[in-house]
Amino acid sequence: AGAPAVASGTYEFLVLSNRLPVDRVVGPDGESSWQHSPGGLVTALEPVMRAADGAWVGWAGQPDLDLDPFESDGIHIVPVPLSALEVENYYEGFSNDTLWPLYHDVIAPPTYHREWWDSYVLVNQRFADAAIASSAPGAVVWVQDYQLQLVPKMLRAARPDLTIGFFNHIPFPPYGIYSQLPWRTQIIEGLLGADVIGFQRTADAGNFARAVRRLLGYTTKTTNIEVPGENPRTVIAKSFPISIDSMSFEELARQPEIQARAEEIREGLGNPKTIMLGVDRLDYTKGIAHRLKAFGELLADGRLDVEDVTMVQVASPSRERVQAYMQLRDEIELTVGRINGDYATISHTAISYHHHGYPREEMVALYLAADVMLVTALRDGMNLVAKEYVATRFDESGVLVLSEFTGASDELKKSLQINPHDIDGVKDAIVQAIAMPRVEQRKRMRAMRKQVLSNDVAHWSINFLTALNRAAASQRERDTA
Ligand code: F6P
Repeated sequence: AGAPAVASGTYEFLVLSNRLPVDRVVGPDGESSWQHSPGGLVTALEPVMRAADGAWVGWAGQPDLDLDPFESDGIHIVPVPLSALEVENYYEGFSNDTLWPLYHDVIAPPTYHREWWDSYVLVNQRFADAAIASSAPGAVVWVQDYQLQLVPKMLRAARPDLTIGFFNHIPFPPYGIYSQLPWRTQIIEGLLGADVIGFQRTADAGNFARAVRRLLGYTTKTTNIEVPGENPRTVIAKSFPISIDSMSFEELARQPEIQARAEEIREGLGNPKTIMLGVDRLDYTKGIAHRLKAFGELLADGRLDVEDVTMVQVASPSRERVQAYMQLRDEIELTVGRINGDYATISHTAISYHHHGYPREEMVALYLAADVMLVTALRDGMNLVAKEYVATRFDESGVLVLSEFTGASDELKKSLQINPHDIDGVKDAIVQAIAMPRVEQRKRMRAMRKQVLSNDVAHWSINFLTALNRAAASQRERDTA
């Protein structure tokens, strides 16, 4: 309450996300260093921010770090501190044990704790305050993802001069699921503080509009939501499918050293006829167990032979202090051990499993080495790994097996689409992928490459920011009329 805060910052453009593009990590020797952050959000936004003259506001990944603003690889960084208790309650708790499972179709049961919610409100206010302090009058502030859904309303209350965008990187669930959330109305109201709310899929935007109608009774028409009040506003809720810096992946794939590394990977695996690849954060939404089950059964049935086919699974460590993730790791590693124990030979392993994150160059080499890419997520906002694979396959070979429960499946229509719950269907798709003639691979890959190369992340951010500036301008006209 009270008078709106006065702008004191200098940035005309700000991006806010829970996680910064770099993470502070402390090694076993107590030495700390900076590491590239995991996840699709950073992959997508990093090139956008390198091209923009703005600042990135976020958390550096460790509790109790009080850092001054700094520069990283050409990006201005404004760190927001979190205490150890806030990491537990706001990040591991409300963000990743309440919202994450709820927004991903309750694949794991969400936990509802009131003290987690209190922490979420408090930390969202801290992010809002950091943006308020850093932004110039009339600046554009672009808030990212489910960890910060209350920030748009907080910003609007303090700084009506700002143009406020929000983008949700993960799915927005159907009302029947969303309505479980005890704080469902506050979250919707938080988001409606934005001028434009972006979603990955048309279905997500539709789910959001329905929640607004059911909870607040506002009128919605296609992508417009009419917010009544003293100053009535029109909020746009629309899909803007996110992407990658496609050309930079292709450029890496064309480098001779990286191609040599891909060859080396193939040799290292004993030169199998087919390499299949899975790349995921170790998360229960990714359907890694379903993929392993299908592969294990194919080996058991004798439809695949371990001498011919190797599966490489990169599972990068994620949210390791959240119970559901600890359990998942045990489950996956037990299954990998069993399959290898049952089917590997001295010269050929069934599953080459890696609980690591790798630099971009190594990932591209793996994509180049992979004849078949397996994306079997049970629910995924977009899945940028699918797009990365397509972007690297400049010779138009390779097959993408893609879950219909990913945002990417709306765009990559020429992938082999599967329902990961249907294990027989996944098995058939794997066999079809391995046997696919080159001509058909080319036809499909060409179409997908056209999609990914022309709809890259620059395209995504321009589309979003154009819609945002347009919406804010027409609102200003309406306010002064
Ligand atoms: O893209 C979804 C997302 O949750 C991002 O918000 C996040 O940065 C990324 O995945 C990785 O998760 P985390 O930041 O919790 O490690």
